Amino acid sequence: MNSYINQSNFFEGRNPEQIASEYGTPLYVYNERILRDRMEKVAKVITKYPYTANYSVKANSNIHILRLAMQEGINCDAMSVGEIQMLLRAGFPTDRIFFVPNNVSDELVFAVKHGIMTSLDSLAQLELYGQICCDLELPNEKRKCAVRINPGVGAGHCEKVITGGKKTKFGIAEEDIPNIFEIAKNYSLKIVGINQHIGSLFMDPQPYLDAVTNLLRIALGFEKLEFIDFGGGYGVPYHKLDDEKDFPMEEFKSRLEPILDDFASKYGKVPLFKSEPGRYCVAEGGVILGRVQAVKQNSGKTFVGTDVGMNVLVRPSMYGSWHDIEIIRNGNVVLREGEHAEPLFEQTVTGNICESGDILAKDRMLPKTVRGDIVCVLDAGAYGWSMCSTYNSRPRPAEILICKDSSIKLIRRRETIDDLMKLF
Ligand code: LLP
Repeated sequence: MNSYINQSNFFEGRNPEQIASEYGTPLYVYNERILRDRMEKVAKVITKYPYTANYSVKANSNIHILRLAMQEGINCDAMSVGEIQMLLRAGFPTDRIFFVPNNVSDELVFAVKHGIMTSLDSLAQLELYGQICCDLELPNEKRKCAVRINPGVGAGHCEKVITGGKKTKFGIAEEDIPNIFEIAKNYSLKIVGINQHIGSLFMDPQPYLDAVTNLLRIALGFEKLEFIDFGGGYGVPYHKLDDEKDFPMEEFKSRLEPILDDFASKYGKVPLFKSEPGRYCVAEGGVILGRVQAVKQNSGKTFVGTDVGMNVLVRPSMYGSWHDIEIIRNGNVVLREGEHAEPLFEQTVTGNICESGDILAKDRMLPKTVRGDIVCVLDAGAYGWSMCSTYNSRPRPAEILICKDSSIKLIRRRETIDDLMKLF
């Protein structure tokens, strides 16, 4: 693909140079049309049986984006009380929130008090949950919860994001399931749901389908489940400029259905099925606009110094992740292919943070850059702003939403140094 920005009409006909000048850089820019399109797709992963998609808020918890999810009719999963609070503020009712925490205590109290369905991730957390229900004298009919099963296998783009398997901290192993029933009995808890998450970012549906089959086999051992949640992880093509294909959603759906049919024929009453996509909903609907501040040669290597540091997007330095980059000059994408293409040169794009690991793109073939060019970092809508930091005392960027009618909404103002000072 020559240019994702052009092909998707990402800026809805607006001039990115003007946007960057008006709102400043670094700047997160989202496209409402693309976000809604992906949310609509995940809402239809299962159509034959009762199903809800739970958008996994950790990918992007901007309240305005949560509102889009609400309007698209999808529910959400939250990892912390902070994420729950964001959802409540966005207008989500508590019965559309699923709390999937790890290693918490007071946060469980909050969830119990607000009647938010919670999944317990270890026997210890299940026991604590039971104790909290007793301490709060919760009537037995309200003592409903879910447990997170560790499927024993995982998948994902790197070891740090694989959440299933024997080496990870998540979930309850299959051999411990008898203890779940024991604890539930002791505290009069009713296990109404089971969930899993094998990991994040796979383009081949097979490991997920295997994990679904496995979870459904395990589900047969639980009586009267109200829901079964298969987790998230559907990938997006981060190498789209090199023509990487999309996650094969249609093929995935058609391969998933017979697995569900088989379960339905064995289990009797079919529970609600759920999944928890985060990245798929928001990654491609977000980009970062940054500015080239200085280009220099160090021992024959070209470094493009920008204001998109690891404080703005940590994924490349944290996981070695690839994000495609397009260069914008005078409001237009500098094309890489075709009649008007410019030759490509190997360049390393860095940020402005005091770490040599502050690298956005290493040895990347890009049109020759000059000071003042805009770098547009693609697929930054997921785990972008939500993983930002204020390292080097740099305030976090603003976020804008380009609406369907091409109007622009500032959906989070830029943080200021005063904001940072207020904490002292
Ligand atoms: N459900 C659970 C329980 C999870 O832990 C996660 C992600 C998801 C759902 C959503 O997964 P997704 O559909 O977004 O792949 N920061 C990393 C990704 C970490 C994901 C953590 N858990 C990254 O930037 O690649």
